[in-house]
Amino acid sequence: MNYRHIYHAGNFADVFKHTLLIQLIYALQRKPKGCCYIDLHAGIGAYNLQTQEAQLTKEYQQGIAKLWNAPNLSEPLREYVQQQLLFNQQRGNTNGLSWYAGSPCLMEQLLRPQDRMLLSELHIEDVLSLHGALSAHQQIQIYHEDAYKVLKSAVPPVEKRGLVLIDPAFEARDEFQQVLTALQDAYSRWQTGTYVIWYPIKSTSLVKSFHQKVERLGIRKIICAELCVYPDDVQTRFNGSGLLIVNPPFQFLDNIRTWLPQLWELLSVEGTGRYNAKWLVPE
Ligand SMILES: C[S@@+](CC[C@H](N)C(=O)[O-])C[C@H]1O[C@@H](n2cnc3c(N)ncnc32)[C@H](O)[C@@H]1O
Repeated sequence: MNYRHIYHAGNFADVFKHTLLIQLIYALQRKPKGCCYIDLHAGIGAYNLQTQEAQLTKEYQQGIAKLWNAPNLSEPLREYVQQQLLFNQQRGNTNGLSWYAGSPCLMEQLLRPQDRMLLSELHIEDVLSLHGALSAHQQIQIYHEDAYKVLKSAVPPVEKRGLVLIDPAFEARDEFQQVLTALQDAYSRWQTGTYVIWYPIKSTSLVKSFHQKVERLGIRKIICAELCVYPDDVQTRFNGSGLLIVNPPFQFLDNIRTWLPQLWELLSVEGTGRYNAKWLVPE
């Protein structure tokens, strides 16, 4: 397991995933009843963009930095930038972009007193960093454990409302299959939960085969949203990423369509790549 998210924090895929995640959380929080957020591949939560690792790749410059001072952002993109600004301000950084909030820290900022968060991470150093990055400890449980093992015991949560984020590093050759197995198993025990699955787009044939397998799971109501900033099918490169949303909130596809075109315009490299948001499996 070599993957370290510090090299990639704030890149185009993070911007896409975290904007969507914030919108999902807002939608879930429309009801006062508490929610449970289960983030299975948590990372370290707080990413210092000034570190040697982040500066080596500077991926955030092709991601969040392109939105930071952009005018006329659509509401969801503005909300995403505001959450990241707030995260920077809490670390004494009033205006510039020095820190990046990963999914656990973003979710912590949005947590209401009645909500709960459950995190798992396999790297022990990352688990220790996570403990340091988070403060609402009474509402948060952190497991140094395999994501898919944690999922088995975590669903259904007592709240019966909430979302599961499956955001692996895709280092394992069979990661797509592991994701499918985990989703099928969790869904069989919790059919009303919202599940978000992140995947990389390097090869269109691989993605097509993954989608076909998802369609065959017998699960209904799945949105597929994709954002590529380079042309598809340059297999040596990470061209884009996709998100599957199982059991999205009401009208969530319309929500995605209000900001995804603008996000592509901002992040696309020389106008290449593409975006789309559609039902992979309708209601
Ligand atoms: C893409 S990063 C997560 C980013 C994070 N979700 C965010 O959005 O800020 C993937 C993380 O999963 C961790 N990881 C990889 N395999 C895992 C497993 N089987 N169980 C738990 N964590 C795992 C890696 O150490 C890495 O920190």
